[in-house]
Amino acid sequence: MSLRDDLELLKTDGVAAFAAAGDAAALEEARIRFLGSNGREKELTKAFGAAASEDKRALGPVLNQVKTALKEAFIAAQDRLASVENDAPIDLTLPGAERRRGSRHPISQVAQEVEEVFSSMGYEIVDGPHVEMDEFNFGRLNIPENHPARDHQDTFWLDNGKLLRTHTSAVQSRVYPQSTPPFRKVVVGKVFRYEAVDATHDNTFTQVEGFVVDEGVNAKHLVGTIRTMLSALLKRDDIEVRLRPSFFPFVEPGFEVDVRLTQADPSSRFSRWVELLGCGMIHPKVLEAGGIDPTRWQGFAFGLGLERLAMIRHGITDIRVMHGADLRSLRQFGA
Ligand code: PHE
Repeated sequence: MSLRDDLELLKTDGVAAFAAAGDAAALEEARIRFLGSNGREKELTKAFGAAASEDKRALGPVLNQVKTALKEAFIAAQDRLASVENDAPIDLTLPGAERRRGSRHPISQVAQEVEEVFSSMGYEIVDGPHVEMDEFNFGRLNIPENHPARDHQDTFWLDNGKLLRTHTSAVQSRVYPQSTPPFRKVVVGKVFRYEAVDATHDNTFTQVEGFVVDEGVNAKHLVGTIRTMLSALLKRDDIEVRLRPSFFPFVEPGFEVDVRLTQADPSSRFSRWVELLGCGMIHPKVLEAGGIDPTRWQGFAFGLGLERLAMIRHGITDIRVMHGADLRSLRQFGA
């Protein structure tokens, strides 16, 4: 076979092979076979170099034409495969990429619901600082200098004489001087106690404090408000509520409210009474310290821990889940 025939054959075979390549791998395989450094084009180019000079003159244009044809066929095949890829139909039966959705922390959920319930009852939402003055956290709340609540065992004292607020009642002290009765206010915020952490105690927790100042306010209003709040928040119909007389220096009389779930599993601690909140009629001295005339205005106040509420709601028995930041636990309660 003459070199001319070989060249013609190379052109026919190469163009056919590139046109037939069904995917990138097949095209690459054909490229190596025809255009590679040990491929047929190289081989015939070498043979051409060794040919007699009159043959070269005759075959030169043929060789160039074959090279051009192969190159064009190769590029055409590349373009064809690329557009096949782009036009590939979308397979709707493939499973989608899973999107991880965030969820709100169980405390944030209850906090928001608390704010909604109280907003609907005409309460204004207020807050105060975490780093608080003795005066607001204790002094104006009728807690004398030597009262055990001031004991440094309960309180994180800071070097500058301030402290981390131990209860949201501190916000009462701050809000009274700026408020003109009648008013209803609610606070949701973090409080801090110098406590050993165990399944039922944490050194950081969340309180809700509500306080109402008006004319003719009495303990029945207080009890009604607490019942409304608990039934809205616990979302259960087996709630039993018990009031016990108790002492808080800033209320008189004062009560502690316990809650029990009558349908709870007997092994759960919520089948027994759980202390949920403190409350009472605002002490006249507290109103007076806030610039409110106690002979004209009365009020009630209550404070409760949101962690316990969230725990009852979700059947969580260890408070450390709440601030533990273990997403495996928290994701289960996401909303
Ligand atoms: N501040 C009290 C506490 O943290 C709760 C409380 C608030 C009690 C308002 C009575 C009235 O324990």
